[in-house]
This record gives sequence, C-alpha cells and structure tokens, in this order.
Amino acid sequence: MPLANLLYAQSGGVTATINASASAVIETARKYPSRIGRVYAARNGIIGVLREDLIDTRLEKPEAIRALRHTPGGAFGSCRFKLKSLEQDRAHYERVVEVCKAHDIGYFLYNGGNDSADTTHKLSQVAEALGHPMICVGVPKTIDNDLALTDVCPGFGSVAKYVAVSTREASLDVLSMAESSTKVFVLEVMGRHAGWIAAAAGLAGSKEGDPPHLILFPEVAFDEPRFLAAVKSAVEKHGYCTVVVSEGVRDAQGRFLAEAGSKDAFGHVQLGGAGPVVAEKVRAALGYKYHWAVSDYLQRSARHIASKTDLDISLKVGAAAVKLALAGKNAVMPIVKRLSNRPYRYEIVTAHLAEIANHERKLPPAYIREDGFGITRAARSYLEGLIQGEAYPPYINGLPDYVQLKNRAVKRRLPDYPL
Ligand code: F6P
Repeated sequence: MPLANLLYAQSGGVTATINASASAVIETARKYPSRIGRVYAARNGIIGVLREDLIDTRLEKPEAIRALRHTPGGAFGSCRFKLKSLEQDRAHYERVVEVCKAHDIGYFLYNGGNDSADTTHKLSQVAEALGHPMICVGVPKTIDNDLALTDVCPGFGSVAKYVAVSTREASLDVLSMAESSTKVFVLEVMGRHAGWIAAAAGLAGSKEGDPPHLILFPEVAFDEPRFLAAVKSAVEKHGYCTVVVSEGVRDAQGRFLAEAGSKDAFGHVQLGGAGPVVAEKVRAALGYKYHWAVSDYLQRSARHIASKTDLDISLKVGAAAVKLALAGKNAVMPIVKRLSNRPYRYEIVTAHLAEIANHERKLPPAYIREDGFGITRAARSYLEGLIQGEAYPPYINGLPDYVQLKNRAVKRRLPDYPL
C-alpha cells in the first residue's frame, strides 16, 4: 500500500493571502514524510481534479513555496464551478473519487468559502460510500467574511486594510480639491450580500466628520432621497463627502443598484457598478462634481498592503488543516475563535463542514449605526484587530517580487473526462 498523497485545491474568488495558506499546507505536509507521500495541487480547483490535471508540488523549490506567502492571486488557479447535489451531479463526485483513487490521494484539502465547504463535505460522503479512504478538510478563505462560525475569514483582514487605507488616502485628495472642483468621491467595494468590507472602510475615520461620511451597506435598503440629503449635508458641513458603497446594495424592492449582467456557475449574480450609479445620482440631483472608483480586483489582490494579522491567520489555518487531516478528522474545517479584542488574540478551533456549508453571515445590526450610514463602536472593536500589522513583500526594481510556480502536471492515469 503506497503512502497516502495529499491533494490541495483553491476555489472561488482568490484573496491576497490564499497562497499563504497554500504555502503552509505544503510546508506542513513536507514535515511528515513518513505519513504523507506527495503533495499535489489541482489546476483551477475542482475542474483540475475532474480533468485529472494535477500539479506536482515536489518540483517546486522550497524558496518558491515560501514565496507564496507574499504572492497574491491563486498560484494553482481557482475556479467557479459548482458541484450540485449528490443526486444531480453524482457522476462528477464519482469522477473526483476515481481520480483521487488513481493517484492514491488519502487527504483532500479544499481552500474556499461556503460553497466549497459544501463540495468538500459531499465529497467526504461519496468517498466513504465508494470505499475510498480519504480525509476531506476545508481550508477557509473569502474576502467577503461571510462564513458562519469563524471569527474572521482568512483574506478579509487584508481587504479590510486596503479599503480603509484607500478611503483615508483618497479622501485627503478630495479634501484638497473640494473648494473649486470635486466634492464627492465614491468608492465601490466588494463583499457580495454582506457588508463586512464596506464596514471596514469605516476604520479610515475615528472622529465626527472624518471620512467616509456615508457607507452604503447591503444590509440597509437604499433610500435615494435620504441618501442625497445626507450627501448634501456632508458637503455643506465638511466641504466634501466620501461615500463607500458595497456592490451588494439593493433598493427597498430588493433590486441590486447594479448588476454586471451575468451569473457564475453557482448562480450568483455578478455584481459591480453600484459606485458609478450612486455617483451619477448625486450629480443629477445635486450637481456636485464627483469621482468614483471601483476597487474590484485591486482590493483582493493588494498583497503589498496586506494585514500581518490576516497573513498569520491564513498561515495557521493551512497548517492546522494538514494536522486535522493527519489526525483523521474528516469533513471539518479549522476556524478562528476570538479570545480578545485589544490586542487581538485568537486560537484555531475546529468546525464541522456541515455547519459551515451554504450559510452566509451578514453584518449584524449592532455593527450598523442607527442612521444606517456608518459603523458602531462594536463594529470598530471587531474590525480593528483584524487589520493590525504590515507584512510587506520583498521588492525588486521598485516592484513586489512575486513568485510564479512551474506548475508541472502529474502524468495522467485515466481516460479523458469531458466537462
Ligand atoms: O466572493 C468573493 C468575491 O470577490 C465577491 O466579493 C465578488 O462579488 C465576487 O467574488 C467576484 O467574483 P468573480 O471574480 O468570480 O467575478
């Protein structure tokens, strides 16, 4: 019986620190040569498993694996590919198990959000039903910070820091122009249906009058007349107004302010464009000159201004996932339990994937100011610890020195499987 191999895959929207988790998974696995054989990575997540397109990480130098800690993006490729219910997609699940059998995969680690937790959970059931002994463990990540149970999702602290920093910096720019030119700056941030990232922008200011003057959360229905009155009042009081708008903001009828027009494989509507929509409403009603920015992929790839706390968490969940797998804990995920706010202290604990799968954690009402346009003290206490510390990448020639892996494919053993 050969030594069990470990298969790691990345899924969903990537983050500034998902590769740090990958690095920790691979480095930790390499510490157990008598328990874990080879460490493979799937190219483009579960798609790579279905296609039997696996990458042999043994061919990557230790320095390259270490450099993943400071490299954004998903080093092995990620995917938006939904494995539906066991009934609907049985063939896909069986194919995944067949590929894992063919390559002696005894440990499957899936790095993703709530949809991926669901896939990992189902996979553990199919593997068992088909008699292939394989421990399936989820590794958490998502900038949206919407996973249940965990105090924070790896990747969120860094996007939160980027958004807070950008809000503060751009606001200084608007302030200097406001007397005779731009009076309103609108920054659109991601986060889908949860306002965690928008809330993080609130950290940019600390006292009354500081930007952002208005935050538009997906949890609060957009009320146009109230919003425009608030913009007018901020401009009259402070000379300018910084607005942070979440991509997931909806009106009272539940319609998104902006949909980019397509859906992904999970049926999620692609969001994006709420910023320009809001800015144009301001111009039309109040006549103020504006600028808007959609932080889009900039926010989730901004490894240069990552949170050290987030980086540490991302590394720890990667290492913990391997240890859980070695301990034979099936269908679980390492998550973060907060121990204190100031300083932010936490420990890594374990949750069952069934408790994580398909739940979406929204911003609690206690974190949203009474007028609906800002964050409360409780939100600040929650968020502050998560952006602490900097972990700059090395720079060469004025630019971050990011690694690109060789990503050599493992020899295939099975016939093609058309997708
Ligand atoms: O789920 C993470 C996320 O970045 C969301 O905030 C955003 O709506 C979505 O992914 C964008 O997904 P994609 O990169 O597939 O368009």
